Amino acid sequence: MKNIAIFASGAGSNARKIIDRLQGSTTIRVAAIITNKPDAGVLRIAEAENIPSYIIDKETFFRGDAYVKLLQDLHIDLIVLAGFLWKVPANLVQAFPDKIINIHPALLPKYGGKGVYGHFVHEAVIAAGDAESGITIHFVNEKYDDGTTILQEKCPVSPDDTPETLAKKVQALEHEWFPIIVERLLT
Ligand code: GRF
Repeated sequence: MKNIAIFASGAGSNARKIIDRLQGSTTIRVAAIITNKPDAGVLRIAEAENIPSYIIDKETFFRGDAYVKLLQDLHIDLIVLAGFLWKVPANLVQAFPDKIINIHPALLPKYGGKGVYGHFVHEAVIAAGDAESGITIHFVNEKYDDGTTILQEKCPVSPDDTPETLAKKVQALEHEWFPIIVERLLT
């Protein structure tokens, strides 16, 4: 059995899609849901699905190896960042080389980096008048939104798109592709 840990701080819709895809899998399971927000929607999903969840203590996460040890003790094979907004500390990156992936709601290297997330991304794409946007799934290194790309998928940006309508198109791509890539990386 391969074990996944999902890190998420938001609504958890991507976590939901990944959990749904792996439901009934005999080879891959979501072994942990990890969040930095005690009120994250993803915690309700974890509870409903009987997946152990952990709320990160910031100080502990950024100093020392407690979370590295936890993830090793849980025999995690892949760490999936699904709307996790903190930078992953170097010790964690080094302990899980090419085993941490992230999804970003734009075509990196455009519209990435610290503070460029969620609606900020879609606002910037529209302000720039880009004809297309999309998603990037990539390995995580020690910089924000910087590791090797695994997959990009595109969608058109039409002149009447708003950040909200563009967000919906991009989210549809995320929900379609992220579970597929997670599964593919572990099989
Ligand atoms: C997604 O748009 C993802 O690209 C990002 O954060 C968002 C998470 O959404 N980095 P959700 O919590 O999975 O609904």
